[in-house]
Amino acid sequence: MINVEEIRKDFPFFEQTKLAYLDNSATSHRPKAVVEAVADYEYYHNANPFRGLYDLSIDATDRYEAARAKVAKFINARDSKEIIFTRNASESLNLVASSLGRMVINEDDEIITTVVEHHSNMLPWRLMAQSLGATVKYLTVKEDGGFDIEELKSLITDKTKIVALTAMSNIYGKVNDVKEFAKVVHEHGAYIVVDGAQSVPHSKTDVQDLDVDFLAFSGHKMLAPMGIGVLYGKQELLEKMPPFLSGGEMIEYVTLEDISYAELPHKFEAGTVNAGGAVGLAAAIDYIENIGIENIAERELELTELALSQIKEIPHVTVLGSDKAEDHHGIITFKIDGVHPHDIAAIMADNNVAVRAGHHCAEPLHHFIEIPSTTRASIMFYNTEDEVLKFVDTLKKIRPMMGYED
Ligand code: ALA
Repeated sequence: MINVEEIRKDFPFFEQTKLAYLDNSATSHRPKAVVEAVADYEYYHNANPFRGLYDLSIDATDRYEAARAKVAKFINARDSKEIIFTRNASESLNLVASSLGRMVINEDDEIITTVVEHHSNMLPWRLMAQSLGATVKYLTVKEDGGFDIEELKSLITDKTKIVALTAMSNIYGKVNDVKEFAKVVHEHGAYIVVDGAQSVPHSKTDVQDLDVDFLAFSGHKMLAPMGIGVLYGKQELLEKMPPFLSGGEMIEYVTLEDISYAELPHKFEAGTVNAGGAVGLAAAIDYIENIGIENIAERELELTELALSQIKEIPHVTVLGSDKAEDHHGIITFKIDGVHPHDIAAIMADNNVAVRAGHHCAEPLHHFIEIPSTTRASIMFYNTEDEVLKFVDTLKKIRPMMGYED
């Protein structure tokens, strides 16, 4: 059970604002413990990890590697070698598309992704397919925002090498049964790549149980700073894959003729790393684990239930996806008849409510469902009932403000 009054004391942001911040799917806020962990690292422990033989550099290396071990444990990876630090989920997905893509895709092969994907889990596959002469096929989406396993079975063929899908859409909020999808993908000898940017902060993730080959997520959506992301990959695959970026500290030796790459995970971490960001992510994981991810999910469900039960009563407002709160994980994407999402977001802003309007980096989905753009409120465990009600009350005022009588 979460005590939200206590939790909000951990976030200085809430002390100085009247803003009802409901744009958490875009980025979350950071608790003091995270910012202080980063500050401590930057003030007292900063040196370039892996490069120096002096104590400070060794200490920086240890802290960076301890963060990696914490991430591995958080998602139940077998080994911290399976955790690659990147800038964000987009970079993680570009890494897999480029490296795994070049390794396993030949001309006329197929990649399956879905119509709901964020651009970051669609465009890298499309670009890779284009350059290799492969084809991209798309799973569609059900009314409730989920995927149909039977549709995957009918799309997948012997030519399918990679299936890339989201564990939780940033538009619908439904968590997909990735484990079932992984089984089907593996039965066909293909690899499954999962975008966990939205799911990892809000629900328990166990990569061994899910048996996914790759999972990407970002720190900044789970209380850590921007600029630190994660790619989990199965060790046996990462070992075989070519590097993505090249440069400092990703080689074992290099001569003018030959290159031998560094061991995992360093092969995929060229250049100076974001050690402060990794330390911040580790502190964010500590913070989440102190509260308990189940308690976080329960609190977010309560707030989503509150919002959806009220929105149901407002005429001309349609929420995308399931009518069950448990299928939303705090994400409420909606349209209002006759009102442009940018007007909705502007009125919300005038009323001190932060939401996002547009296509939310999922433009192909909006074309597919023939809704040009939408507005999205996204709730996090630290939001209050009052903030949710302020959002709902503002929603009620919008059509009248735009001159409609009901
Ligand atoms: N991917 C983020 C969102 O959905 C930025 O808003």
